[in-house]
Amino acid sequence: TDFATFITGLPKAELHLHIEGSLEPELMFALAARNDVAIPFKTVDEVRAAYSFSNLQDFLDIYYAGASVLITEADFRDMAIAYFDRAAADGVVHAEIFFDPQTHTDRGIAFDTVMRGLLAGMAEAEAKHGLTSKLILCFLRHLSEEAAFETLAMAEPWLDRITGVGLDSSEVGHPPEKFARVFAAARAKGLKLVAHAGEEGPPAYVLQALDILGIDRLDHGNRSLEDPVLTARLARTGMTLTVCPLSNVKLCNVASIDEHPIDRMLREGLRATINSDDPAYFGGYIGENYRAAAIARGLGKPELATLARNSFLGSFLSDDEVAAHL
Ligand code: ADE
Ligand code: ZN
Repeated sequence: TDFATFITGLPKAELHLHIEGSLEPELMFALAARNDVAIPFKTVDEVRAAYSFSNLQDFLDIYYAGASVLITEADFRDMAIAYFDRAAADGVVHAEIFFDPQTHTDRGIAFDTVMRGLLAGMAEAEAKHGLTSKLILCFLRHLSEEAAFETLAMAEPWLDRITGVGLDSSEVGHPPEKFARVFAAARAKGLKLVAHAGEEGPPAYVLQALDILGIDRLDHGNRSLEDPVLTARLARTGMTLTVCPLSNVKLCNVASIDEHPIDRMLREGLRATINSDDPAYFGGYIGENYRAAAIARGLGKPELATLARNSFLGSFLSDDEVAAHL
């Protein structure tokens, strides 16, 4: 349709994408065979049937199991280029992608293997599609502060190729304040700071991410809407929210896409963006997230253009680079 073509044709940045969450079942099977890794599924259909979640933890258990097929530099490269090919087809011209090194280093995969593979995929995407990208290293919040510091130390030789750090995994019970010191250390190294907050956790976690971690960008942030003072502050300060509509549905953070608050976020003056989070698990890449949200919430072309514009304003590109995209 005309609407779908408009969405695809809108140049956009993707700011909330876990590269391990882009691993499609077909590639998971291919890598399992290539690396002789056992996975608890016989067919691709069986895998897809298992992708029914009632909360974040349900999903995370399957997501970490899926990542076990990633062994070599080529595996990380293949996963990354598959994502970039798909993103480019949806009109993504810039992507700031999360990776979870602890998921791999805890299985004995070298940090350098992960980096070399992802960087190879990123270079290939730029050559092939003109799609630029940046890397954000996420600390797993269900693990300790000490483990996060060890991960930051492993990243040290690569810091010129890592734009920022983030915080993901099981939110409730692992508040941002647990990572206050490691975020301060990352800031001192010149890294940008982002954190998942207010996905399942309360508005108080968003406040901690702002006031204790000092984040530059807020991942999800949905539950901020429960606190009018916080919502007004996020709007006033121009904080970018990386919202993921289909993820919110699949993880039961909203009852259905028809009840997604994306339009309310825009009306409240929030700098909201639309992203795919873990597209291989949640049933759609960024274009499908724009389409589903637009149809369900009646977003028109001006709102869609605002969302795409917000994605560049909220990116970690330089002011000149942002201006060139607007
Ligand atoms: N890791 C991958 N996707 C995630 C999400 N939506 N929330 C928290 N951790 C994640
Ligand atoms: Zn996420």
